Amino acid sequence: MRTIRITGTGSALPGRIVTNKELEQLVETSDEWIRERTGIAERHVSVGETVVTLASEAAHKALEQAGKTAEEIDLILVASCSPEQYLPCCACQVQAAIGAVNALAFDVNAACSGFLFALNTADVYLRTGLAENALVIGSEGLSKLVDWQDRNTCVLFGDGAGAAVVEADPARMYYFDQGSDGSRGEALSCPGRPLRSPFVATDQGFAPYIFMDGQEVFRFAVKKVPETVALVLQKAGLTAEDVDLFLLHQANERILQAAARRIGAPVSKFPMNMQACGNTSAASIPILLDEANRKGLLKRGQTVVLSGFGAGLTWGTALFQW
Ligand code: COA
Repeated sequence: MRTIRITGTGSALPGRIVTNKELEQLVETSDEWIRERTGIAERHVSVGETVVTLASEAAHKALEQAGKTAEEIDLILVASCSPEQYLPCCACQVQAAIGAVNALAFDVNAACSGFLFALNTADVYLRTGLAENALVIGSEGLSKLVDWQDRNTCVLFGDGAGAAVVEADPARMYYFDQGSDGSRGEALSCPGRPLRSPFVATDQGFAPYIFMDGQEVFRFAVKKVPETVALVLQKAGLTAEDVDLFLLHQANERILQAAARRIGAPVSKFPMNMQACGNTSAASIPILLDEANRKGLLKRGQTVVLSGFGAGLTWGTALFQW
């Protein structure tokens, strides 16, 4: 059966690092509180970088590692919930920036599950022969959506991008699960522009920031991640013991520890980088994947599980052979 294989990864982070100590100057919080509750010590914040420039830098690195030119790419998918522009979409801007003249390009927004939704979409395109390869990117500039006076959220998020080149492969296994529960969307939301035209009577004020019910999201994540991982393991006819690495969305260390316990795998199989990056939403899994790849943690033939969860509410999991 034809599925996909990841042949190159790349990532890009803004140069400006903001430590927890710096946040103590902005809101009533402490380095200790943030580390204890989330595992985060610092995050990268854009001071000129955009979702598109970060995505393009990550894409260049992934292409280089895959030994592919931009012209050879058939499909570009950018997962993002924080684009600078409504139009054109990030994927078309990345296409122009890297010169992928032959690609079909569009965005996917499933918030922190976005990279999984995009990767699974790429799998469907490649599996059905609609494309031979794809550049799948998660890129975020959440710092512009965060209220830097709201301690409930500003300590959590960071900016960055990660990319993967995937190619059709007849011999690999690839199983996925994904889902959405829009009825719980209020738990994690961020408004866009309000209605504004000569036909709207009053100017509606709005707060263009991320709102989060942290405990609701926490409960959702620790329940849903083990469920979706179990489902994918079942589809593959494998157990948690057969998995070499679990690369999960880097929202919070305590969520990952709880998920590891429920999945029944040692925490040592769950690499983490939220200490240095915070929660970069759709970018967190491909950044982590790139780190694991470049550090040599991933060996060809190993079984890897990726799992993301977040606003929507949404969740997505993939199991494949590296
Ligand atoms: N520094 C200090 N105190 C803070 C704080 C901060 N940055 N943020 C919140 N607090 C306070 C709260 O105001 C509250 O104070 P109160 O008791 O006086 O009202 C207290 O800490 C406890 O708040 P609570 O929300 O119960 O804390 P918590 O243990 O649930 O931790 C989160 C808060 C956000 C860290 C936690 O809920 C979480 O990680 N949720 C998941 C969030 C997430 O991952 N979102 C993205 C998913 S993609």
